Order: sequence, then C-alpha cells, then structure tokens
Amino acid sequence: MSVSRMWQAVFALFLSASLADSMSSPRVPSGNGVSLEVTPNQIHEGFTDQLTINCTFSHEQGSIFSTVMSLILSKTDSISDSTYSEVATITAFSNNKVNEKHTMGAHVTGLHKPDAFSFIALEWSYPSSQVEGKYMCEANGMDIEGHPLSASANSVLEEKAISVDIVLQRVKEMDIRMNVMDVKMNALDAKEKEMDTKMNAMDAKEKEMDSKLNDLRTRVDNSKAAIIYKSTSYGGKNYLLSKQILINVPEANRLCRLYGGYLVEINDRHEFDYLVNFAHSHVPGREGVIIGATNEGHGSSWTFITSGAHMSTLVWESGQPNGGSQHCLYFWTNLKQMFDDPCLKYSSNWPVRFLCEVPN
Ligand SMILES: *[C@@H]1O[C@H](CO)[C@@H](O)[C@H](O)[C@H]1NC(C)=O
Repeated sequence: MSVSRMWQAVFALFLSASLADSMSSPRVPSGNGVSLEVTPNQIHEGFTDQLTINCTFSHEQGSIFSTVMSLILSKTDSISDSTYSEVATITAFSNNKVNEKHTMGAHVTGLHKPDAFSFIALEWSYPSSQVEGKYMCEANGMDIEGHPLSASANSVLEEKAISVDIVLQRVKEMDIRMNVMDVKMNALDAKEKEMDTKMNAMDAKEKEMDSKLNDLRTRVDNSKAAIIYKSTSYGGKNYLLSKQILINVPEANRLCRLYGGYLVEINDRHEFDYLVNFAHSHVPGREGVIIGATNEGHGSSWTFITSGAHMSTLVWESGQPNGGSQHCLYFWTNLKQMFDDPCLKYSSNWPVRFLCEVPN
C-alpha cells in the first residue's frame, strides 16, 4: 500500500466515524494548536472596511496530534443559531487548495502542511451582514497510535448596529488621518517653496552665465572683426582670411579655434584653386598665407596640424620645399604656389596672413 493510499484509507475511516457520530471522535481540550482569529469580532455593515477570519492549526511541540488531515471552518447563520454549516475546508488531499463551500465573497487563502501548520484564511473588505454568526475551526487528525482526534476553536462575529459613538470614533480617526495628511502636505509645501527658491537661484545663475556668455561672444566677435579681413564659403565650409600678422602658426591656429574652426586643411586641387583665387582677389601683392599643415618629425611627408591626416595636394613653387628648420606650410597670394618656412618668425620681409576653415 502506498503512503498516499494509506492516508486516504485512514482519512476515509476517520470521516465515516465522524459522520456517523461527530461526538465519537474524542475532543481534545481546546488549544492544542487550533486557533480561530476573527479580527475585528464586531462589524458594522458598510462601516467595517477590513475583516479577517483565520482558522489555523500549528503543530506545537508536545501536541497530541501526530498529524492533521483536515481543517474545517464552519459557521451558524446567526448568533442565536446552533446549527453549523461548512464554510470551507482544506485536507491532505486538496493540494493546498481550499474547498470553498459558502465563503460569502471572501478572498480565500490556505495551506496544508500535515506536520507543520495549516490554515484557511478568509478576508473581506466591507463585509456584508451575512458574515455574522458563530464560527468553528476544527482540526481533524490522529494521535501517534493512529486514533482519530479532533480539536476545535470557536469564535463569535457579531454585527452591531451603528451607534453615534462608533460614528464619532470614526470621525475622530478620520480627523487624525487628515491631520497627518495636513502635516505631510505642509512638509511638501515647504519642500516646494525650497525648490522654488533653488530654481530661482538657478535662474539667476543661468541669467548671469548667459550674460557672461554674451559678453564673451561680443568679445570674440570684436576680436574677429579686428583679426579677420575677408571671408568666403566653399564646399559647405566657411573660410576666414586674416589681416596681416607676425608669423606664429600655433597662435594662428588658436585664433581659428576661437572662431570655431582650425587652420585650413586643403584636401584637393579644386579647394586649393578656389582659395588661392579668393586670397589673390583681395590681396593682389606678394604675401604668404599659412596653411594648417606641417612636416615636423616626418621630413618629406606633410600632415594636417588639426586632423593629423596626410596632405596629398602639394603645389610647390620651384625650388621648394627647401627644408631645414622650415616645418610650416604657406602659399603665395600672387604666385598661387606653396613653400615651406619656419612656424615662428619675429620678423619677415613679406607680410603674412592665415586662413581658417570653419565647418558649418
Ligand atoms: C493565517 O494564519 C497563518 C498562520 O499563522 C498565516 O501564515 C497567514 O498569513 C494568516 N492569513 C491571514 C490572511 O491573516
């Protein structure tokens, strides 16, 4: 015989015994791990918001139950009644599912662990008056020698008529809740005011930054007006040709950066032709224009100062490049050809300009 078959047999035996005469299985003293919690134990229909009835068995040390096979929760129709009818049961065979008989719209949960604890719990929000009655929580099982045992716990749930006291009590509770909410709202208000103040401070800071930025922009624009001579656009880029300067390539590149660009990077012959013609049309004489390329550290190969890319369009004046310490690149406005020369020079017998390339 398998264990579960044996259980079923024991259970059937037990059930038939208890059906034949419910008094035939010995009642053990109340306690013994069975309890019935009814909270609250008075309800007022439409007023009581929460009701819980929990019929539990917990297997205590020294319990006379060796095992519990079922929990049965039953109730009477009214407080004066004495006939109990079943509300719900849970058994060793119901797979932790509560058998609901007459649960009056409750949310029902339950568990059956034969030698640990078992319960049937019913929960209502705003229960109706039909929950009133006498309740009984009954645990059925057997002792260590296989004798059937039954223990129960009882409780009464009464519906009380609403009295002025109850209403006043409830009003008082609501008052307290309202006060708590008021306090919270005030705290939120204060937080909001604090945030407002902070936001205002940030606004002021932002305005200050804005004005500083505008100031800076004005200064940059002014310096641009002082430094830049002519501008043009070609191939989606703007080009700024400076006024005459002393030769200082790094400084020239810094000025281009201030205007949002970098020293010109000539990528093909078309761009070169366009730029030399542009420069020549405004500067007809013999002047040098700085290109953003260098051969510093790599001899005959030229790379762009900003992007680092290899420069392939080199249109040399005859006899150029003539190397040595001449690591920067220029073009002549009149000759429209390139030559190398130092990157820094404090005097020069020909005027120098630089050309910035500014992406749109
Ligand atoms: C009923 O009692 C059991 C055992 O104490 C507990 O685990 C369960 O959470 C209770 N259920 C409710 C709804 O109170």
